[in-house]
Amino acid sequence: MNAAAADPADNNATDGYGDFDFIVVSNRLPVDRVKSDGEESWRRSPGGLVTALAPVMGKADGAWVGWHGAPDEEVDQFDHDNMHLLPVPLSSSEVELYYEGFSNATLWPLYHDVIAPPEFHRTWWDSYRTVNRRFADAAASMAAKGATVWVQDYQLQLVPQMLRKDRPDLKIGFFNHIPFPPLEIFAQLPWRRAIIEGLLGADLIGFQRPSDASNFLRCVRRFAGHTVRQQQVQVQTEEGISYVSRAESFPISIDVDQITELAKREDIVERSKQIRRELGDPKTVLLGVDRLDYTKGISHRLKAYGELLEDGTLTVEDASLIQVASPSRERVEQYRLLREEVEGTVGRINGTYDTMGSTAIRYLHHSYPVEEMVALYLAADVMLVTALRDGMNLVAKEYVAARTNNTGALVLSEFAGAADQLRQAVLVNPHDIDGLKSAVLDAINMPDREAQRRMRLMRRQVLQNDVERWSKNFLNALQQTEPGEEG
Ligand code: G6P
Repeated sequence: MNAAAADPADNNATDGYGDFDFIVVSNRLPVDRVKSDGEESWRRSPGGLVTALAPVMGKADGAWVGWHGAPDEEVDQFDHDNMHLLPVPLSSSEVELYYEGFSNATLWPLYHDVIAPPEFHRTWWDSYRTVNRRFADAAASMAAKGATVWVQDYQLQLVPQMLRKDRPDLKIGFFNHIPFPPLEIFAQLPWRRAIIEGLLGADLIGFQRPSDASNFLRCVRRFAGHTVRQQQVQVQTEEGISYVSRAESFPISIDVDQITELAKREDIVERSKQIRRELGDPKTVLLGVDRLDYTKGISHRLKAYGELLEDGTLTVEDASLIQVASPSRERVEQYRLLREEVEGTVGRINGTYDTMGSTAIRYLHHSYPVEEMVALYLAADVMLVTALRDGMNLVAKEYVAARTNNTGALVLSEFAGAADQLRQAVLVNPHDIDGLKSAVLDAINMPDREAQRRMRLMRRQVLQNDVERWSKNFLNALQQTEPGEEG
């Protein structure tokens, strides 16, 4: 690894700077370790972010800094798929305090409308600071003079300010993939000012929805006292540097080409038919796909669906719900409790309504490769996205992209960022169980022509705004920000 940055005041020095012009920093590296025949190798992780950034990486001499996913292990930097990867180590205690603790039991619930109670512990905060410092140092060691560094998500909110202090030569961007909470909720955080100042180290701070950006700007005014004009914050550092930091929304999207190409593949279309047959060929297949997370509103969805069966409005011969719940953060208490609750409910509903030939809910606690996901999207007449709060929800966009023949209906929570773009979905407030039940019925019974009209409009939106366009928009806006000035 290169030494830390040289004295940035020395404009002619190149020694001590890293070699890369474009650096992405995220909690996880965009690769997963796979083992076959006793041999270990890396495979690109599924997901839009890496697809959007891999081409930029290749062209711009890019590197990616992130945790490789295993505690107590140092891994040397390596190349994979035209990307240079720098693994950042985390000890098991840091996984517990920084990742499971501060990131996923303090910030995650706080930023998602306190659906679960956030816990505040000073030891977690200390670890968050230590780990953010390690990521910042790793990024600084890789960054060439004047490089662009793009920091991702809530696990690393202190990194922008740390980088700006050590390397004022850099262009620094930050993107928050999850919601940013209203001031009245953010106010609970004992370290609220430090987080705001951490983020303000970036030249450009991106959010999913305009409301996230305005929540953030209200918090800046209240807790950091900088001057805010529209979307711009005038920041004055202790070192006497002044610069403008902008906060703006850039709704993320998906790799549209990948999904539409898979949706046309014959074997995948065949697989989607097989899925329906295996369910006993119900008239309607409903689908939910989520990480098993309390923000996703899985319990609300199951309650509404269970009541529709209880009322006799639906029968298991008419309809079947496939619920994919991919395992997530399983050592965090709230996630364990949720799993018990969801699995108890599924068991009760199936026990009551299943017959030998038909099932109410086919529950799958697995994650699947994208090919199988697309087959599921093709098999589903109705997609249910009932999040109680969600930064974006890419599953909704993937479903829409996969429906190449414009059939199918999407029930979508108004609390997911995707509701800003997918206006023709059947929009719901998932807390309103009666409203949710009628939304599900409306989607099931929607006349074909109406469903096609809506799907066509939603597809147009998604197809025109894929994840590559998202990253270009962000990076262009970042390049247009003004450099800081001493004064
Ligand atoms: C959300 C977050 C990501 C995170 C992902 C999976 O989408 O915005 O930053 O990587 O969940 O969670 P995990 O804790 O497994 O990384």
